[in-house]
Amino acid sequence: MIDIHCHIVYGVDDGSYSRNESLRMAAEAIESGITDIIATPHCIPAMFENYVGPDYYAAFDRLYAALHDEGMDRDLTVHRGMEAFATPSTLAQFDRGALHCLGSSDYLLIECDFAEDPEFFSGILKGLLERRIRPVVAHPERYFFAHDDIRRLLDMVDMGCVLQLDTESITGAFGRKCRETAFSLLDRGAAQLAASDAHDSDMRRPDMREAADIVADSFSPRYAQLLFDTNPRRILENRPLLFRGQYGSEEGRDSASRHHRRRDGFMTDEEYWGI
Ligand SMILES: [Fe+2]
Repeated sequence: MIDIHCHIVYGVDDGSYSRNESLRMAAEAIESGITDIIATPHCIPAMFENYVGPDYYAAFDRLYAALHDEGMDRDLTVHRGMEAFATPSTLAQFDRGALHCLGSSDYLLIECDFAEDPEFFSGILKGLLERRIRPVVAHPERYFFAHDDIRRLLDMVDMGCVLQLDTESITGAFGRKCRETAFSLLDRGAAQLAASDAHDSDMRRPDMREAADIVADSFSPRYAQLLFDTNPRRILENRPLLFRGQYGSEEGRDSASRHHRRRDGFMTDEEYWGI
């Protein structure tokens, strides 16, 4: 498995707080069958300002050195990433090169305030798409607007965004509404990625096996593989992601299909329609 959303870089946000904690998280990830992590520190103005720059690279270098010193980099590869937070300055920050996509891909992990106005968030996503960046919407099932109307999220998929579920939403650790919304997205085939969003080695852990088992049991082993392995690997390879079967309504499929044809070279129709 590959985890594309994990707060394992220590001392930079509300995730890992120390070298040892990051090593414990890495050990858990390895033990649970994870080979690659894209480390995604929060990047929130005035809170966790982890913009691309010397401090950003130094934080990753400290983690790489720790993993190397313990011989853990043989079993686990950590890639650079970021969880950008949508604000009115997000597009300007992107334009000045301050935001880091997932690994060396054109996929940017982005979150918004849980109580955000979906119109505002969609505007930021649209701006990224216009820059030929594929937004990966972090934990869409946790936003309040999604609990009111899941169509808001399906519209984002039709725009060309990718939805990434948190494992703890799938297991129910974030409560009934998040779990129901996650399952509703899974049921529709609208989610293309799942990730741990781990913050520590104790409560919000890197181990994704329970959630993967739930998806395999509730849907199919193949769907679990798509969410936890196939599509995360395609992120690392900067390739188009696959859907489970045929996603969405007729209307949604048409507009999404047009979108992907228009965005020439992003994804063939064959790839878009899935495995
Ligand atoms: Fe996160």
